[in-house]
Amino acid sequence: MSHDFTQDPQHTPDAEQISDDRSPAYDYAYQDAYEQHYEENRNGGLDPSFVFDFTAYDEVDGTSQRWSTWLDVEPLCRGPEPRPDWVVTSQGAIDTDLGILKTGKEADVFLVERADPADPDGGVIMAAKRYRSSEHRTFHRAASYTEGRSTKRSRDERALKRKSTWGKIVASGEWAISEWDALKRFHALGLPVPYPVQIDGTEILMEWITVDGETAPRLAQTRPEPDLLASYFDQLRSALAVMVQNGVVHGDLSAYNILAAGERLVIIDLPQIIDIAGNLAGMDFLMRDCTNVCTWFRARGLDVDEHDLFGELMAHAF
Ligand SMILES: Nc1ncnc2c1ncn2[C@@H]1O[C@H](COP(=O)(O)OP(=O)(O)OP(=O)(O)O)[C@@H](O)[C@H]1O
Ligand SMILES: [Mg+2]
Repeated sequence: MSHDFTQDPQHTPDAEQISDDRSPAYDYAYQDAYEQHYEENRNGGLDPSFVFDFTAYDEVDGTSQRWSTWLDVEPLCRGPEPRPDWVVTSQGAIDTDLGILKTGKEADVFLVERADPADPDGGVIMAAKRYRSSEHRTFHRAASYTEGRSTKRSRDERALKRKSTWGKIVASGEWAISEWDALKRFHALGLPVPYPVQIDGTEILMEWITVDGETAPRLAQTRPEPDLLASYFDQLRSALAVMVQNGVVHGDLSAYNILAAGERLVIIDLPQIIDIAGNLAGMDFLMRDCTNVCTWFRARGLDVDEHDLFGELMAHAF
């Protein structure tokens, strides 16, 4: 779907200069979000292909359902290969909103089922993290986290200043794209994170982490037996070591951003991950992550110390 930006009265040509110093994924995601927004406004919310599909299947109820967005997003907005076999890629699939899982500071997490009516058993329930627009959000993670980010965002900064439509989309999409990139990066490192299925504007679809068919509890809500507690700590220590060895820190790690999926832990909530090189506060964030984690394990009866953990991570870092 190509779109002639010069036809858009809200757009000035220089906003479209794509600088070549940024990753294509970054540009495509924003551009895609923008184009979608434009199409929606132009067609009164209805894309022609949507109408065609609608008459063909006549099953989407429009409020809690939509056609699967899998084929609407750019290839780079889909999860990394090899894809788990549960990912639904069928063109005829329907997404059904099953309701809200949790409201957070910047985003709300919903459950979404994606299934092809022709193959109902092949359906999957995913977690959909939807970032709110900038007006409805607290910017508690903003300044110190983004310091030293390597991507140059001059076009976006100019757009933000101009408060163009593009700028507004950039403002709301910023954290979603950060989290998407972080999920892919951690996944590629073999770290225990939910598999990233796709990003579409401010919505990330990812693997739903469960225990016995229910949403996995946050680590903070659990009281593991001593053996499991020790195993959990080992898992976190290994994960932290992999992060540090690859020059990255979670930056908001605590028992609230870790899910206890039975025997194994899964780390979530990654939009603020920090590159150690280039961010003066990187070590402070690492120390804080160590402190949050160790404080929780100590309160549950495991004899651990944040300074020991920090020292051990640094010793193997470089
Ligand atoms: N992939 C997932 N599988 C299962 N539950 C999830 C998943 N992602 C998020 N959740 C649930 O939603 C909650 C909020 O997610 P997350 O921490 O990523 O968002 P947030 O906006 O930062 O929320 P908060 O402000 O509470 O930290 C999590 O604590 C967890 O309970
Ligand atoms: Mg969180």
